Amino acid sequence: MPDLRDLLRSLPAIVGDPPPWDPQRAPEDPRALFIDWLHEAIERGVAEPHAATLSTVDTHGRPDARVLIVKNVTASGEFEIATMSTSAKGRQLAAHPACALTFYWSPLARSVRVRGVARPASPQDSARDFLARHPDSRALVFASAAGGESASDEEHRRLVGEAKARIERDPDLVSPDWVVWRIRPDSVEFWQGSEDRDHLRLRYLRSGNGWSRERLRA
Ligand SMILES: Cc1cc2nc3c(=O)[nH]c(=O)nc-3n(C[C@H](O)[C@H](O)[C@H](O)COP(=O)(O)O)c2cc1C
Repeated sequence: MPDLRDLLRSLPAIVGDPPPWDPQRAPEDPRALFIDWLHEAIERGVAEPHAATLSTVDTHGRPDARVLIVKNVTASGEFEIATMSTSAKGRQLAAHPACALTFYWSPLARSVRVRGVARPASPQDSARDFLARHPDSRALVFASAAGGESASDEEHRRLVGEAKARIERDPDLVSPDWVVWRIRPDSVEFWQGSEDRDHLRLRYLRSGNGWSRERLRA
């Protein structure tokens, strides 16, 4: 068994095949570039290209992070996510809306970093998102809200069964605990790996009604 450090050192990193990209010719708005990159990730068959790591801070200022699905990027460039208000991330965002999203598309050697501030969407928008989910996922929201994070397996199964039956009786049932959040970015960085390790970085910073752009090194 090789030493772990040696084993990790032997593994290749940034193995993707990056498409041609000239940061000098990047669009004025990061939304346009993000959508282009997302489409390229989808075309290359990246698994779950809409998955990102959401970073938040808790009430003690300690960072927390987890993977979730990004639902949309609105016309005004806000990134939409959805979660339960009772979850750690839901509580953290309600108390400290500053957050970050990190995407990594390995086959393209690309990553995007978004920093911004989240605000809850209207209850109607959250309800629309909730009803678009699979009935089993909806049942889990009701069951988790009722049982909390540490319900026993038996109690959880009972609550899920109960919730499924309620949804079958009333398919329009909406949980008020499901919240869509819109993250308004103030910084979006596009990163693309290079074979010579002189990786490409372009950061957009919100500036008045528009964006400024800067190249970053290393
Ligand atoms: C690929 C993937 C997609 C996920 N999508 C979501 C999602 O859209 N919303 C969500 O609340 N959790 C999602 N999760 C689960 C979260 O990573 C996390 O475990 C859960 O939300 C609890 O996080 P919290 O305790 O920090 O709130 C996803 C996990 C993975 C691996």
